[in-house]
Amino acid sequence: MAEKRRLAVFASGYGSNFEAIQKACEEGTIPNAEVVLVVSDHRDARVCSLAKDAGIPLLDFCPKEYPNKAHYESIIAERCEEEKVELICLAGYMRIVGPTLLEAFRGRIINIHPSLLPSFKGAHAIEQALSAGVKVFGVTIHYVDETLDGGKIIAQRAFPYEGNDIEEVTSLTHEVEHILYPETIAKLLQTNK
Ligand code: GRF
Repeated sequence: MAEKRRLAVFASGYGSNFEAIQKACEEGTIPNAEVVLVVSDHRDARVCSLAKDAGIPLLDFCPKEYPNKAHYESIIAERCEEEKVELICLAGYMRIVGPTLLEAFRGRIINIHPSLLPSFKGAHAIEQALSAGVKVFGVTIHYVDETLDGGKIIAQRAFPYEGNDIEEVTSLTHEVEHILYPETIAKLLQTNK
């Protein structure tokens, strides 16, 4: 059996996309891969407990304890290199990735965003879409570069929604995310053998 492909998941909060990725690795929907590191900038985030419960190495940190982003990102990059991480999957990581991490992992960092980019970049994408009155919502997976949610698009999935209930549309968005992210990771790993 070939060596497993090594993923890192970066998350700041709830971690439902981490759970979906981890489950997909365990069940083989993402074939022959494992999450070898979880990185979180919030020590009390649910995703940290999930990682601990699953026995996955966790790098949790408080950005304010470092003089600057370059400093903590060099620690993260070093740890990812030590863990031989092939692909970094941002999943609700609420920080802009800076040059230190981008240079170390160029072309190997992807993100999930809860809108059909290039519409509704930044935080609160679902609220922005609802306010704009759109009738088709969706999810985008894209490469991360220096721009905000502007890197090359890898995959998108749309769904119709005509209501006005933020909780309902958020939950529909998550359902799509939990399928699309593992599927896209599996395809990327398959393509970049
Ligand atoms: C997701 O909606 C994702 O698109 C966005 O942040 C949210 C994270 O949710 N970037 P979770 O922490 O994975 O549950």
